[in-house]
Amino acid sequence: MQLSDQNQYTIQGIAPAQLVEQFGSPLYVYDGQTIRRKAAALQKAFSGVNMKIKFACKSNTNLAVLRLMREIGVELDVVSPGELEMGKLAGYQANQITFTPSGVPFYEVKEAVEAGAIVNVDSLPLLEWFGQTFGNTKPCLIRIKPNVAAGGHAKIMTAHADSKFGISVLLLDQILEIVKKYDIKIIGLHQHTGSDIKDAEPFLKVADILFETAKHFPDLEIVDLGGGFKVSYMPGDAITDMELLGNKITARFKKFCSEYGRELQLWFEPGKFLVSESGNLLVTTTVVKEDPARNFVHVDSGLNHLIRPMMYGSYHHILNTSNPTGEEKPYNVVGYICETDTFASDRHLPEVRQGDILAFLNAGAYGFTMSSNYNARFRPAEVLVDNGEARLVRRRETLEDLLLTQQGL
Ligand code: LLP
Repeated sequence: MQLSDQNQYTIQGIAPAQLVEQFGSPLYVYDGQTIRRKAAALQKAFSGVNMKIKFACKSNTNLAVLRLMREIGVELDVVSPGELEMGKLAGYQANQITFTPSGVPFYEVKEAVEAGAIVNVDSLPLLEWFGQTFGNTKPCLIRIKPNVAAGGHAKIMTAHADSKFGISVLLLDQILEIVKKYDIKIIGLHQHTGSDIKDAEPFLKVADILFETAKHFPDLEIVDLGGGFKVSYMPGDAITDMELLGNKITARFKKFCSEYGRELQLWFEPGKFLVSESGNLLVTTTVVKEDPARNFVHVDSGLNHLIRPMMYGSYHHILNTSNPTGEEKPYNVVGYICETDTFASDRHLPEVRQGDILAFLNAGAYGFTMSSNYNARFRPAEVLVDNGEARLVRRRETLEDLLLTQQGL
């Protein structure tokens, strides 16, 4: 969202009010230019090595976004057969897609492998099954749990000892035994530390653990360091310094490759870094309630559309796009769901009036994909603004959509 010289917010020159008038409210709007800029920054930071980006599409599976990713040379990381199909529909070849399951039924892994995707094996039983099923005929990566705790919130840390994800690095002997027994072709090691990681240090720590572990696998082609780069949710928030991280990881990776004796590919799987800032959730103020304790602003949305504030206590910056220069007042911005769905408490916003359009920033990642039909509410429409043009890329749901799977109507 940009602020023009006339103090008007716009997305590539288009006013939120115009978007809401054309496509309705609430509305997810993605700025394609921001996605291109973020991907380019990541590519630049790691330009010294053979690096591939695998977009963690759990953060945003709109096909228009996936197609844009494909256009700009970003490949995919998926976690389910559904996401794999989305990737294929967006035009990806299966071999550009990595399947990173988390305790899924083995038949899903079989289908993914048979479709041509590359799998990150995340447990010893799955590794054993993989060996029995495919022997040395199909390559795979192994997801290592390095036992490092990092991330912006306990719920989004995925590499500490208590985390359910991956195979503990302490089980290396057992991994090697199974690999040897079935002669499994391990082409890569993978790990993902967590989300919202600001400092370079945890990334370097896990990279070192992975490089050390890699010495036991002679046929590697890939080291995958996952995603988790921190974006700025709050104005002035410190974010991952990508240039610094790029320099540091590049130096270590090059050293590792020369010790290993071969050039390897370095993969990353960012979700938020690529799409979070591109997305805005536009909502309309339904009621302004001046309660003795608080001023409440109700909007035509709730935890059914953007659950991050309620689930992780996440801060999303809010703009009153209808009154950018109004006098600031404190508000609790709340939803219309029959739960305490507070988006923001005691937030200072330019005076909010009924009908004003508010924008929740940084809603491009884990916004729509985590939405639901709670309270029999419809999910919002999605719009992609690219090259100065706004295009509807998902229509708003209707009652028919809600009833589609119910029987005996
Ligand atoms: N790779 C793997 C294996 C992952 O599990 C994830 C995220 C990513 C990559 C991408 O992480 P990112 O770059 O987006 O931080 N819903 C939470 C985040 C959950 C992340 C789950 N895994 C949120 O809204 O903060």
